[in-house]
Amino acid sequence: MAVKFSPQAVKEFEETLARYPHKEAALLPVLLLAQREFGVLSDELVQYVAGLMDLPPSRVKSVVTFYTLFNTREVGRYVIRVCHTLSCALNGTEEVIEHIKKRLHIDVGETTPDKKFTLLECECLGSCNTAPVTQINDRYYENMTLELVDQILDSLE
Ligand code: FES
Repeated sequence: MAVKFSPQAVKEFEETLARYPHKEAALLPVLLLAQREFGVLSDELVQYVAGLMDLPPSRVKSVVTFYTLFNTREVGRYVIRVCHTLSCALNGTEEVIEHIKKRLHIDVGETTPDKKFTLLECECLGSCNTAPVTQINDRYYENMTLELVDQILDSLE
């Protein structure tokens, strides 16, 4: 069956377009909407969004593959993105990553067998003054400590 937005997503798509001066400017929020609706931005979904946005699929694909917040493969319910850029690296991000790996018994790039957590490293999350920083789905966790990792994972498990 061909990919198609639900009626609710169509409504949200139209409301999103109305907030921007021209269609292409709405591409990022439309891709986030598509990701919320389908989970993974597959090639078929990229084609669908390109059609909706009157853009070449290659243009949409280049945006999807540029931003690490877009999922191009299956991920868990909670996507943990740990910043490993300079400020975070200097403030203990490696310990945070190792702790999460031990807690979840997965490596970076992997998903837990129950499909609950995916662990990823990412580039600067733009909050260097509160390094180390981790993002889980849409939420930022700043000044990460191993205790905070435990508290967060306990609350999500
Ligand atoms: S270096 Fe990690 S948030 Fe900027």
